[in-house]
Amino acid sequence: KSILLLNGPNLNLLGSREPLIYGHETLSDVEASSLALATSLGASLVSFQTNHEGKLIDRIHAARTEGIDAIIINPAAFTHQSIALRDALTGVNIPFVEVHISNVHKREEFRHKSYLSDKAQAVICGMGTFGYRAAIEWCATCLEAKQA
Ligand code: DQA
Repeated sequence: KSILLLNGPNLNLLGSREPLIYGHETLSDVEASSLALATSLGASLVSFQTNHEGKLIDRIHAARTEGIDAIIINPAAFTHQSIALRDALTGVNIPFVEVHISNVHKREEFRHKSYLSDKAQAVICGMGTFGYRAAIEWCATCLEAKQA
């Protein structure tokens, strides 16, 4: 299986950003442990982070011709505001898992609304950075491979 791991705005600051909420692991730590896990499960994994909505959308569009079987995405604040991101994910028709490090439902009201969850295969939140690894294991072992 071929997995694309996407991280949205401000997640490049992981490790130093609000550590009580997001923990001490850096994005590089997350990407490295994600790659190691995917490899051990016989899956390939490519990671991409951007602070720009359009770049995230372009990366999702590119996945269409790359044989990506699943997208794991932490859309960060775009979760709560981006119809364009929702349209991109539904437009490419690649199954995706929405991951949040924090339990967004325990936080401000504006974080309770997601423009993506009703289109996601699965939603993980509140597991800390372990949530990425849970998503990878699930995609690598449970999700049906894309038909050629
Ligand atoms: C987040 C939760 C979002 O509400 C927030 O804007 C983020 C990170 C999380 O991983 O918990 O940037 O997606």
